Amino acid sequence: MTDPARAAQAVAQRLGARRPAVAIVLGSGLGFLADEVRDPLRIRYADIPGFPEPGVAGHKGELVAGLLEKVPVLVQAGRFHLYEGHDAATAALPVRVFARLGVKTLIVTNAAGGIRPTFGSGTLMLIADHINLMFRNPLVGPVLKGEERFPDMSDPYDRELRTLAREAAREAHVALEEGVYVALLGPSYETPAEVRMLARLGADAVGMSTVPEVIAARALGIRCLGFSIVTNPASGLTAQPLSHQEVLAASAAAGTGLVTVVKGVLRRLS
Ligand code: HPA
Repeated sequence: MTDPARAAQAVAQRLGARRPAVAIVLGSGLGFLADEVRDPLRIRYADIPGFPEPGVAGHKGELVAGLLEKVPVLVQAGRFHLYEGHDAATAALPVRVFARLGVKTLIVTNAAGGIRPTFGSGTLMLIADHINLMFRNPLVGPVLKGEERFPDMSDPYDRELRTLAREAAREAHVALEEGVYVALLGPSYETPAEVRMLARLGADAVGMSTVPEVIAARALGIRCLGFSIVTNPASGLTAQPLSHQEVLAASAAAGTGLVTVVKGVLRRLS
């Protein structure tokens, strides 16, 4: 596995005196949030040891450091999915780098299929909790520096941050649902039978990311806030077949509400 310290050193060198407090991981089609960062410093993955080139349409490959609502942030535009063949440790590598740069708060975003019957395309969901059905965990193996062997997962998505998100959404009149995210390995979308199973397991939205990052963050004592943009009703809930292009378009369309809420949270943190 790549040593996160080497990657962190390379990023720290580029950051110079900048000290990001909050890291923001962008999901499919949400790349435009990186354009909102003031005084941006872009660090390409090619310049970070151990960071692979992202291979999915809708995902870039750079970290963007700068200010968002006066908060020093580090935006991760392009994530490493398990379905691309990356192991869970690679998916979590950026988070381990963020921790070494002093980041204490992680905001994760993703595109997801809606399982709860009322979750249509464009629904914004605050992640209350998750179910890991990837059957992978980034903490498997030797315990890395600063990490717990058996991290507590009773508050994976920080209670206080979720309260701030609800307040920010209310203030800006953005509709914000709340529910459980289930992560599957992918890359095939679910079958209708699988979606019925996931509903019975207590999931409200389904996707293929986020969980490895949040597990690593909790092991490092980083508090997390997560949002899913529901880009489609999950398989079997409508007659329509799913396509990645549709997911990207729906994500970008619903992304403005998400950006508003994220900014509101940052204002409350600053
Ligand atoms: N399933 C899994 N991942 C997804 C979906 C879905 O329906 N939509 C967007 N990401």
